[in-house]
Amino acid sequence: MLIPIHGVLSADEVQLLRERLDSAAWQDGTATAGTVARHVKRNEQLDDADPVAVELGNAIVRRLGEHPLFISAALPAKIYPPKFNRYADGGTYGAHVDSAIMQVPGTQVSVRTDLSATLFLADPEAYDGGALEIEGPFGIQPVKLAAGDMVLYPSSSLHRVTPVTRGARVAAFFWIESMVRDEGERSLLFDLDQSIQALQHTLPPDDPQILKL
Ligand code: NI
Repeated sequence: MLIPIHGVLSADEVQLLRERLDSAAWQDGTATAGTVARHVKRNEQLDDADPVAVELGNAIVRRLGEHPLFISAALPAKIYPPKFNRYADGGTYGAHVDSAIMQVPGTQVSVRTDLSATLFLADPEAYDGGALEIEGPFGIQPVKLAAGDMVLYPSSSLHRVTPVTRGARVAAFFWIESMVRDEGERSLLFDLDQSIQALQHTLPPDDPQILKL
């Protein structure tokens, strides 16, 4: 299931992040790809230890911690520190599946990748191509969201980023280990929680149907 989460960052916040990111020390992203992905990856990334990446990544995680839709959808146990990538000049990332386990650099902590997240940091009008294409039960779904919006998808899905033929696509990406490993169970809890949230707008909080849900 793909879950878009709109407005994780405001337009002003995106602009502040971009001012920092656009002057940051971008590096060839090939070095951090797995052995299979290395052949299909062509983009730039910030080093994990880059102070800009660390500071902005922490700010994103803090924001997510207070975002009810994210909490409800992901039920996060661990969040991998956000990484940043940039695609321009034909940059692309061919079909791949993210690694099942990610070790947090410089720590003994590992994260089981239940969910992958992409937080878009460029307006869709600012670049051509650069769609995140995710394969799911209903075929390939292209995702290209507004700056400040994020998509969550199962880390086991085959996905790719189509070549950027104009402008630059900048994004943050990271992984989440959920407290509920099974996607079906997690999605059921999400549906129930969303129904409760929606009904609370129209029914009193002690309504028997809400209590039952
Ligand atoms: Ni990926």
